[in-house]
Amino acid sequence: MKELPKLELHLHLEGAAPPAFIRGLAAEKSVNLSGIFDARGAYAYRDFVDFLRVYEAACTVLQTPQDFYRLTRAVLEASSAEGVIYTEAFLSPDFCGGRDLDAWRDYLAAMTEAAADAEAADGIVMRGIVTCIRHFGPEAARETARCAAETAGAFITGFGIAGDEMKGAPKDFAYAFDMAREAELQLTAHAGEWGGARSVRDAVRDLGVTRIGHGVQAIEDPALLEELAEAGITLEVCPGSNVALGVYPNWRAHPIERLRKAGVPVTVSTDDPPFFHTTMSGEYENLAQSFGWELPDFAAITYAALDAAFCDTATREALRTRLAPTFGEFT
Ligand code: ADE
Ligand code: ZN
Repeated sequence: MKELPKLELHLHLEGAAPPAFIRGLAAEKSVNLSGIFDARGAYAYRDFVDFLRVYEAACTVLQTPQDFYRLTRAVLEASSAEGVIYTEAFLSPDFCGGRDLDAWRDYLAAMTEAAADAEAADGIVMRGIVTCIRHFGPEAARETARCAAETAGAFITGFGIAGDEMKGAPKDFAYAFDMAREAELQLTAHAGEWGGARSVRDAVRDLGVTRIGHGVQAIEDPALLEELAEAGITLEVCPGSNVALGVYPNWRAHPIERLRKAGVPVTVSTDDPPFFHTTMSGEYENLAQSFGWELPDFAAITYAALDAAFCDTATREALRTRLAPTFGEFT
């Protein structure tokens, strides 16, 4: 599966940090992070809220733009080895200087440089989606949106929201999303991972997003599925994440195949791969095993991702050219 060219639309940059990378930084900075790893050195968490705690603890050792340069290079190198040729990473001003605009510019410069170096080395193309964090509240989200709006351009192409979906409602974040939209950023929101079909409905209506992070619980509402299909709202589905966090008990129970059959544009991503012991190829292997997916199915999710990617036309067409030798006959 590694050889198939892949597009990934939903990857949290800090969430893609291997535990050894975080341990290395912790040692360099003399930070004690022993509480977030298990005996084998993997990230250890009990449930989704505990996962967010561990995630934020890991982020405490990411302290300088240079740390983010190294993280971005490491993440893109790992993604490229999985066959990923285009990735959209969620970037968080919260963890890059506490949402201070000048600090954010410095961190962003380091990540942009790392992305350019990775593209030169491996051909992998990266774009950034600035992301606010729901449980940090609407005021913090506005500051994050300001960072996004002030740095929107060729590299920062989107704005989104992650974090604890059970805290607050999408409409609380409408102002932040309005700021991002005015800066011509494209929009996505985590919804329907924990908050049911209603949370997807609310995110589409109140935030005006064209993509939904996860969105899998839309499966509970056939009328919503029709609306998503009709409007072409693309789901950034992360099945391995959902199974690891217990949204679904196992791969066979995951609704990805039913979502696709309902005509909803579906893509596949890893979310926070080391936390969930997954990779893009691992996701593909599980999809093949659980649902019998073959080349035409992987072509369909890849072209759905190409259509929904937050990039300009030239980038999209260059990617299409790179996909054609593998998937061209299925377009
Ligand atoms: N941040 C990182 N991973 C996340 C997830 N799966 N859901 C919500 N927020 C996140
Ligand atoms: Zn996510």
